Amino acid sequence: MTAISATSTPAELLAVAVRIAREAAATARRMRAEAIQDVQTKSTDTDVVTAADKAVERQVVEALRAERPGDTVLGEEYGDTDATAIAGGGTRWILDPIDGTVNYLYDIPAYAVSLAAEVDGVVVAGVVHNPATGDEWTATLGGGAWRAGRRLTGSTRETLDQALVGTGFGYDSARRRHQGAVFAELITRIRDIRRIGAASVDLCLAAEGRLDAYFEKGLNHWDHAAGGLIAAEAGLRVSGLDGAAPGPDMLVAAPPALFGPLHDALVELDASGGP
Ligand code: IPD
Repeated sequence: MTAISATSTPAELLAVAVRIAREAAATARRMRAEAIQDVQTKSTDTDVVTAADKAVERQVVEALRAERPGDTVLGEEYGDTDATAIAGGGTRWILDPIDGTVNYLYDIPAYAVSLAAEVDGVVVAGVVHNPATGDEWTATLGGGAWRAGRRLTGSTRETLDQALVGTGFGYDSARRRHQGAVFAELITRIRDIRRIGAASVDLCLAAEGRLDAYFEKGLNHWDHAAGGLIAAEAGLRVSGLDGAAPGPDMLVAAPPALFGPLHDALVELDASGGP
């Protein structure tokens, strides 16, 4: 296989990401089918998800190593492949092998392989591929966001009280208590809430206008690297609160008209606070 130079364009990086994410999605799909038998016999539920998560991550890391030997990978399961190389810049791949692991376990078709390419700390290409439905969203920096040949432009809704807003909850119960309190108040001010269970998919649905907006506290880089670019390239504002970068404290993705009202409501409700 030919190694692509470290100065690849976003479109070239996206082509690599799409190909590798599709192969990874096939593994996730196959392992899910096999796992049904496993759960009934030897493994625990968690083993099945962990095994699939790890297998998919390993497959992606190996494919990237073969094709892009000078790059590094940050993955959910194994962390950074080479922290010193990252400090030196270059291309880093950000991977969530299976985002939406609880949906994966329950065979709810909302989970995804999420893979992004970051050059010198800026995400320039990303793909989110749902193995269960075949849906695939892509974006390159400055090149727009796409699904099935259609360019995505986000929701045109203008008022928060008519907005369908996606969110998610962390795994820690103390954090959930705080998130639940925010939810209880926010839901009185909007059309409704959706908790789809995969942050990358939430961001892509917001990019398509199938959610009007999305927010969540507690996300990791791999949850939002690809989906965040896809939402931003669809014209959404993707940010933390009070001008901060999106990160563990908060990520809000909303079309310009909804961003301000949603942002202000989240500040008022101290959505980035709590544990
Ligand atoms: C989780 C999902 C979920 C979100 C959590 C994430 P995982 O990722 O994206 O929707 O609410 O914050 O941790 O654990 O399924 O990869």
